[in-house]
Amino acid sequence: MKIIRAENYNDMSRKAANIIAAQVILKPDSVLGLATGGTPLGIYKQLVEWYKKGDVDFSEVTTVNLDEYRGLPKEHNQSYWHFMQVNLFNHINIKANHVYIPNGSDMNIERVCKEYDDIIQSVGGIDLQLLGIGNDGHIGFNEPSTVFETGTHCVNLTESTIEANKRFFQSREEVPKQAYTMGIKAIMQAEKVLMVANGESKADIIKKALFGPVTPEIPASILQIHHDFVLVADKAALSEIDVAI
Ligand code: GLP
Repeated sequence: MKIIRAENYNDMSRKAANIIAAQVILKPDSVLGLATGGTPLGIYKQLVEWYKKGDVDFSEVTTVNLDEYRGLPKEHNQSYWHFMQVNLFNHINIKANHVYIPNGSDMNIERVCKEYDDIIQSVGGIDLQLLGIGNDGHIGFNEPSTVFETGTHCVNLTESTIEANKRFFQSREEVPKQAYTMGIKAIMQAEKVLMVANGESKADIIKKALFGPVTPEIPASILQIHHDFVLVADKAALSEIDVAI
């Protein structure tokens, strides 16, 4: 595990974007596992800027997103499909048929999950997986008590996640109660895992996840045993960690 300390959100975003850009420069046909949420927004903004300057080329890149709300059509302004188009894909030269996100509008759980696992396999697995972290330690939408060996599956979102994500919707009632998520298995099989975290509100869970016991109660804790795990976090998110980094 490698921890990179950033000064603030902007610094965290640039450092993480640098790691992703380096991955794409070194391996132009990389498979990137991408994440949504507020934390990666600065990274995507930075990557778009570098793309526009001609520094990074996404023409051979493939992306597989972590998750999608079950029951939200692509066009919904809070679908993760929509999030990715607006914040990244519309602004770079990635090919539309190289972009994968679980199909939230398909209610057939078995079909969606099997299709997504087949996709991950057919693209040859993930080179670099980007992750945020939920307040309860979830990664993707792998909520506490998730079995570590799972493939793509449908989850019931916890109250804590619904509460955290309601800020993006008109009301709490509008937040979908279920989501499709890539399983921990595919995340752990990624060649490299890059987690980003910022702000004091993440300090407690970062400490528990990375320095506490490895337990399904804190899904992110499994990353402690990943062979190439990097956390880029700002000072505030690292404020509970008392070991020297
Ligand atoms: C959602 C996403 C996660 C993300 C988490 C934290 O639940 N499914 O992938 O890591 O939110 O979001 P934020 O970065 O806004 O704190």
